[in-house]
Amino acid sequence: MTTSNLTDQQHQRWQVLVEQIRDYDYQYYVLNESTIPDAEYDRLMQELKALEAEHPEWVTADSPTQRVAGQVQGGFETVQHEVPMLSLDNAFNETDLAAFYKRIQDRLNHHGEIELACEPKLDGIAISLLYENGQLVRGATRGDGTTGENITANVRTLRSVPLRLRGEDWPAVLEVRGEIYMPRDGFEKMNERALAEGSKVFVNPRNAASGSLRQLDPQLTAQRPLEMCAYSVGRVEGGPELETHSAMLDALHHWGLKINPESRVVTGLADAEAYYDQLLNKRDQLDYDIDGIVFKVNRLALQQRLGFVSRAPRWAIARKFPAQEEMTVLIDVDFQVGRTGAVTPVARLEPVFVGGVTVSNATLHNMDEIERLGVRKGDTVIIRRAGDVIPQVARVVLERRPEGAEPIQLPMGCPVCGAHIERTEGEVVARCTGGLSCKAQRREALKHFVSRRAMDIDGLGEKLIDALLEQELVQAPSDIYGLGAEQLTNLERMGEKSADNLVNAIAVSKETTLARFLYALGIREVGVTTASNLAQHFGSLPALQSATEEQLLEVEDVGPKVAAHVRHFFAEDRNADEIKRLLDSGIEWPAPVVDTDNQPLKGETWVVTGKLEQLSRDEAKDHLMQLGAKVAGSVSAKTHKVVAGPGAGSKLKKATELGIPVIDEAAFLAELRNHGRWQ
Ligand code: IVH
Repeated sequence: MTTSNLTDQQHQRWQVLVEQIRDYDYQYYVLNESTIPDAEYDRLMQELKALEAEHPEWVTADSPTQRVAGQVQGGFETVQHEVPMLSLDNAFNETDLAAFYKRIQDRLNHHGEIELACEPKLDGIAISLLYENGQLVRGATRGDGTTGENITANVRTLRSVPLRLRGEDWPAVLEVRGEIYMPRDGFEKMNERALAEGSKVFVNPRNAASGSLRQLDPQLTAQRPLEMCAYSVGRVEGGPELETHSAMLDALHHWGLKINPESRVVTGLADAEAYYDQLLNKRDQLDYDIDGIVFKVNRLALQQRLGFVSRAPRWAIARKFPAQEEMTVLIDVDFQVGRTGAVTPVARLEPVFVGGVTVSNATLHNMDEIERLGVRKGDTVIIRRAGDVIPQVARVVLERRPEGAEPIQLPMGCPVCGAHIERTEGEVVARCTGGLSCKAQRREALKHFVSRRAMDIDGLGEKLIDALLEQELVQAPSDIYGLGAEQLTNLERMGEKSADNLVNAIAVSKETTLARFLYALGIREVGVTTASNLAQHFGSLPALQSATEEQLLEVEDVGPKVAAHVRHFFAEDRNADEIKRLLDSGIEWPAPVVDTDNQPLKGETWVVTGKLEQLSRDEAKDHLMQLGAKVAGSVSAKTHKVVAGPGAGSKLKKATELGIPVIDEAAFLAELRNHGRWQ
């Protein structure tokens, strides 16, 4: 073969590689589809780099190897936006949105329904990408809307930003507008790493995105998990005639840009509100922060007729979600004692409306967290409440610290029983050493024992437990089984009927499962999943009680820490005594019905995540276990299959990354049906 033949072949290979990698980037970063394993991708990229090292003359600006350039010298240049980058008016409630809708109906003199394009309002950084003849020539920040900064080198490092457009029918000049943001899991991982390295931790994904984009060294931006999502256009010259905003988004998608998969077109105000409600409910399940919904008149001709007022279009509005962060004053700190004696500092706050509810308490987790926040009594703090997650103190507003703000100290003695508070070396959690002689620990242990996923004693709520403790009718869980209707009727607000019902519920709870019983015992770090894994593995209580550490470690999800807690628990005489009392009172469970002939999933490890409709996650796990599968709480290379319902987050992502098969509920039920476990 002649040299030139070889070079031709190499050049062809170069072309194939460039195309392939571009396609993989598009599939992975724009379409969110994982097509090839990471290792294969890396090999292709290495091969391309090697070819380009040999033939630097082939390297083009849009080759996938050219995403990261050298340092920007002397800061960013400014960029003039020929079409200004506008902002949006806000609607803070339904009335504001209805007023917007009426305004456009009036202006258009159209009193029928109007089509609205609906999109999540991404909480990131507005960006303009300029494509000339399909090539990315400039990336710029919004700045003040007229003048932004040229951050081309940084924007090029984002794989969801095509360096050249796909297809052919794109406009000769196309300015894409959109948002660059950092997905939450990437943000958390980045912060974890920053914490470990002792470098700067960002307060939220938005700041992290902004900080990452403003790096003078694109190498640094390239390492940050940023994504770009397109939501409109600026300058456009040529290209297809489009009639609607939604058609324009589709076109952008077709040209290789990522658009938000939640985007929809609705007709009329009622459907717009329904879309808002639906996304508000979904907000916490999304992998990125959104702070509202943007509604845009869908027909471009109507947009044009409506025009602009000062800096915002008349044809669009941002219907804001309730803020997830608000400022308030930390008045005091109380210390609460939990089931395992953990002493948790709780912030008492000046009530504040955040995330849709009024918050007057927030957990401070532990003393390390107090130190990390640097918070003192009297400080003004930012409270964050995202979805149903308990409110958190996000940070302190130091500028507002009053004189004499008092540092927060861990008390020496338990605030409930006075026993010594201990903080073991290397542990963040401080614990009351009072054990079950501490009323708080007793109370929490009882609450846990009767709870739904444990012994499930219907009607034995928190107030009743407090009353029973107060009257000294109950000390330990086993005392519950000695309660008679007479004793109960003596309690305040307890009629005969309720007392009978409760006695009945207590009796019914005696028929249980080994897994529930183990969970009810409240062994440290033994949650529902671990309890069922232990039950399934050992099959009987005596087998578990006498298990060695090695035997315990064979159980799915059990590591050295859990094994040690289990061993400790059973080694303590008072626990053994209490278990005996419970069993003597008649608690029993059927011998495990492991149908050894029908264990088609034996040896497999499954993970169930997200929300299921037809059955609860616990039921799903139970079926799997009956079929012989192990059910794990997290996804690893050892996982065989993942069942994912709506709202599945990091576990689903990990499974996709690892190439582990993921099935939805319907496929799961079909599988159960195949194995005779579902009708
Ligand atoms: S449209 C003329 N759509 O919200 C219309 N903006 O105050 C201009 N934003 O800084 C924007 N998600 O970065 C639009 N789906 C979306 C958006 C969105 C987030 C941001 C945008 C801008 C701000 C508007």
